[in-house]
Amino acid sequence: MPPRADPLDHGLILDFYDRNARDLPWRRPDATPWAVLVSEVMLQQTPVGRVLPVYRRWLDRWPAPADLAAEPAGEAIRAWDRLGYPRRALRLHAAAVAITTEYGGIVPSEVDRLLTLPGIGEYTARAVAAFAFGARVPVVDTNVRRVLARVVRGVDEPRASATAADRAELAALLPAEPAVAARFSVAVMELGALVCTAVNPACDRCPLLDRCTWRRAGAVAGVARRPVQAWHGTDRQARGRMMALLRAMPGPVPRTELLATTEDAVQARRCLTTLLADGLVEAALDGWYGLPGATPADARPAPGARPD
Ligand code: ADE
Repeated sequence: MPPRADPLDHGLILDFYDRNARDLPWRRPDATPWAVLVSEVMLQQTPVGRVLPVYRRWLDRWPAPADLAAEPAGEAIRAWDRLGYPRRALRLHAAAVAITTEYGGIVPSEVDRLLTLPGIGEYTARAVAAFAFGARVPVVDTNVRRVLARVVRGVDEPRASATAADRAELAALLPAEPAVAARFSVAVMELGALVCTAVNPACDRCPLLDRCTWRRAGAVAGVARRPVQAWHGTDRQARGRMMALLRAMPGPVPRTELLATTEDAVQARRCLTTLLADGLVEAALDGWYGLPGATPADARPAPGARPD
């Protein structure tokens, strides 16, 4: 029997990327490691189209980690605009501070060091090491996990939260040359984003069609399986409204105004409490609240004071 064709054929995947890759600023040769780090944090839970304008403004304003570290965390939250999950802005600010104070303002290149930065997890550390520094490390996001599940293992769903196993699987399939391995990783990601999508995969446009284990096993494509996440009426929506008000204001706003952004008073109070607990909102004196760092020290309640 002839040897079975490699399902993740390097040549086919790299060729697909050469022909189809989106021209995105963080993929250009002039993207700095800091720009790559910013992009990866923004892209974790937000689509490319919404990230692009915020990413550009962010890097225009803070071209290096020290520029962001010099500003209060609240400014990062303000600039985060409507990307959602704004705790990422806080984490990016904390990472900028750590890069500035512990690494002399230079984004570290090794996965182990990147992992010491606040808020930088297994995915982001490897993405920065590979895409900014050309390291040969497996970069596994949800798109890559889906491609691995389908093409290599012949199943539609990635292993339940076993990203370490997926990393090991991809590591064994990476090209030997580090710079090629990094390009291969982003190419697999792009294949998952553009062709091997969760719903309605475009198998007819897939370079791996002939060797895909899922396809061979009689893949059933086009079944919309994921329910759209409810948004209306959720705490996320209510928190988002409070954050939008705070971002639009130059300084703190009265508690009554924040609570008035949500009709349900119990939900409004709950959301303000969790925003305070998450460090996204800071109490000022006399029932006023602002973005972190926006309140002068003499206008803040004493440490330990209970939010009213
Ligand atoms: N290119 C590099 N990393 C990416 C990501 N996380 N999403 C989309 N394109 C990327």
